[in-house]
Amino acid sequence: MRVLVTGGAGFIGSHCCEALTESGHEVVAFDCFTPFYDPALKHRNISEAIARSGGHLSLIKGDVLTPNDLARAFAAGPFDCVIHLAASVGVRPSTEQPAAYMRNNVEGTASLLAAMTAHACNRLVFASSSSVYGDTATAPFAEHEAADLPVSPYAASKRAAELLCHSWHALHGTDVFALRFFTVYGPRQRPEMAFHKFATAMARDEPITMYGDGSSSRDYTYVGDIASAVVTAAERARGFELINVGGDREISLSAVIELLGQALGTTPLIDRRARSAGDVRQTSADISRAQALLDYAPQKSLTAGLAEFAAWFAEHGVH
Ligand SMILES: NC(=O)c1ccc[n+]([C@@H]2O[C@H](COP(=O)([O-])OP(=O)(O)OC[C@H]3O[C@@H](n4cnc5c(N)ncnc54)[C@H](O)[C@@H]3O)[C@@H](O)[C@H]2O)c1
Repeated sequence: MRVLVTGGAGFIGSHCCEALTESGHEVVAFDCFTPFYDPALKHRNISEAIARSGGHLSLIKGDVLTPNDLARAFAAGPFDCVIHLAASVGVRPSTEQPAAYMRNNVEGTASLLAAMTAHACNRLVFASSSSVYGDTATAPFAEHEAADLPVSPYAASKRAAELLCHSWHALHGTDVFALRFFTVYGPRQRPEMAFHKFATAMARDEPITMYGDGSSSRDYTYVGDIASAVVTAAERARGFELINVGGDREISLSAVIELLGQALGTTPLIDRRARSAGDVRQTSADISRAQALLDYAPQKSLTAGLAEFAAWFAEHGVH
């Protein structure tokens, strides 16, 4: 297949580009290198992926919100599938800039869907998020939950984009698998995400800022497992489906900080702060739909995944 990956230079995007080329697909990454975190890190991500691709991955710099940029991207087609990862990310910053998040994540998705149809591309894998379940869903979260009570603009923007994708499926028959990723970690993790931020603090002998009492829990998913699910979804997407992609285990924040400390060979110092608005208390994935539709089964234990992250951090982390 020939595949367009928006957000291809990001954390998850660069791993997806690598997994796609390893599976024999031709890939074009599309990214505008937003300054949300240091664009040099994204250049490093995509350069590594291009170097490993044997000539099967290229990069187009462009913004999904700019029609001419999308036209340039589709001129590199035709594409059998688009994987849409480009987004404004992060729960907490979305509470400060709700309009910007809605514009990039909803309007950006609408522009991309229109460009796909204009260029006869009928298959989309959309990166959604476990945050759509809010604080009221029953654990483990299953896709039949209404997910209509988000608690952050980021979550609202992802749920809105899912609904938009459904409307496009109904109108144009576009095949869409919307994958709800549960907190993703591993090499190249975004620097403002918890494990990377905690590792940086530990490397500097600074305390880790822990919001809440440490009892909040997450279902962490290794980035390699996410990338495998994305590749299979790109190969199989048919109809419209919402699909959880989680790690199939849940762990408290305090326990995971302990494990991360062990992986990094250091003892974490904790600075406790009040729970942050917009953060959900728990995420926990029911992955039976992913098992049925994608033959998905997470391969990496948390201990093994944290060891991979620690090895990467030793080489690339900010010290
Ligand atoms: N990391 C997680 O734990 C997680 C969890 C759930 C969902 N997701 C979703 O997965 C996707 C990838 O997340 P990530 O963690 O790799 O983030 P990331 O910030 O590393 O990657 C996103 C990439 O998109 C690019 N981008 C943003 N807006 C763009 C635009 N308008 N046009 C072109 N490129 C644009 C950015 O430059 C960046 O390289 C996002 O859609 C995110 O919402 C991530």
